[in-house]
Amino acid sequence: MGTLWQRLSTLTGKSFKTCLCLSPKHQWWIFRKTVQKGKLMDFTSTVIIPLLFGSVGIFALFRLLQWMRMRAYLQEAVVVITGATSGLGKECAKVFHAAGCKLVLCGRDSEKLQDMVQQLSTVTNHRKKTHKPHTVVFDLSDTKTVLNAAEEILKYLGHVDILINNAGISFRGTIVDTGLDVDKKVMETNYFGPIALTKALLPSMIKRRKGHIVAISSVQGKISIPFRSAYAASKHATQAFFDCLRAEVEQYDIDVTVVSPGYIQTNLSLNAVTADGSRYGVMDKNTAEGQTAAEVAQVVLSAVGQKKKEVLVAGLTPSLAVYLRNLCPRLFFTLMAERAKKERKAKAS
Ligand SMILES: NC(=O)c1ccc[n+]([C@@H]2O[C@H](COP(=O)([O-])OP(=O)(O)OC[C@H]3O[C@@H](n4cnc5c(N)ncnc54)[C@H](OP(=O)(O)O)[C@@H]3O)[C@@H](O)[C@H]2O)c1
Repeated sequence: MGTLWQRLSTLTGKSFKTCLCLSPKHQWWIFRKTVQKGKLMDFTSTVIIPLLFGSVGIFALFRLLQWMRMRAYLQEAVVVITGATSGLGKECAKVFHAAGCKLVLCGRDSEKLQDMVQQLSTVTNHRKKTHKPHTVVFDLSDTKTVLNAAEEILKYLGHVDILINNAGISFRGTIVDTGLDVDKKVMETNYFGPIALTKALLPSMIKRRKGHIVAISSVQGKISIPFRSAYAASKHATQAFFDCLRAEVEQYDIDVTVVSPGYIQTNLSLNAVTADGSRYGVMDKNTAEGQTAAEVAQVVLSAVGQKKKEVLVAGLTPSLAVYLRNLCPRLFFTLMAERAKKERKAKAS
């Protein structure tokens, strides 16, 4: 027993006398707790801490390898970006240029494209070789110019490594008031144009057994919001087409990434077409409060670098809405009907 008290005194830091005065049950309890604490500390220092450092180290190594692979994948890659004159396309041009890609900037306005080239050439990157972008002017809603553009790109650069189908227009209006020509215009720009460009560049990718096709879709490619019919339909079609494409071209080692953003702070709502085909011209609250185009461009860059198949870049509410649409469609339909009523009321007042 003497040794137990001595041990207890050493372990607990209490005086030998104090330990002697305690009841045997109390002494035993203190002794057990102290030994357990000692064991726990031993376990922490010999197992948990090394495991924690090991995991952090492995994670850091994994991220480093991922970053190096991404860097190698993007350096010198020929990247075609549509809609490079504004919003997300403009920011994508900046990040892919900084990553050392050889860019082909596409748009309808050659002056805006040249401005973009000027802007990019003032950016110097000491760690990476950057390239002066090439520009191609065409309208996505005109299939003939799309095909000519694809030919020009292949003639000038020989091949395309990454095609980013970004350009698009939005729509605001009721279905009953919207002319079919407006539906067609949105479909031509958001769906037929991008798929025509994709189809024109695909054979050369298949031949090289190398390529990456990116579609900038939208959360509205997964859920439909009232008064956005043409836009939501074009983005649903985009999602469907590129999902099929992914499956069909995997055997040729071609990657397909569909990016579905929520709201982004761009001119999309300002440039949206309305039921009669005129410009909407309003900066929607949701768009103004969305993510910045620069943030989303970074997501696009890393999704491409990591060859992700699909990315949803949205806040909590749109993300939940996507799950709700699939898991509880009746509730989703009720909520959308309520939203339609509310929007109608707000417009009428
Ligand atoms: N902003 C958002 O909240 C949001 C959310 C989800 C998805 N997205 C998607 O993100 C993509 C980029 O849009 P953004 O937000 O950056 O909008 P934006 O600022 O309006 O830019 C749209 C771009 O598309 C180009 N474009 C439009 N119609 C075209 C046509 N017929 N032919 C060729 N180019 C055309 C525009 O070129 P011009 O300069 O010639 O007009 C512009 O460069 C779109 O696919 C959009 O659906 C946006």
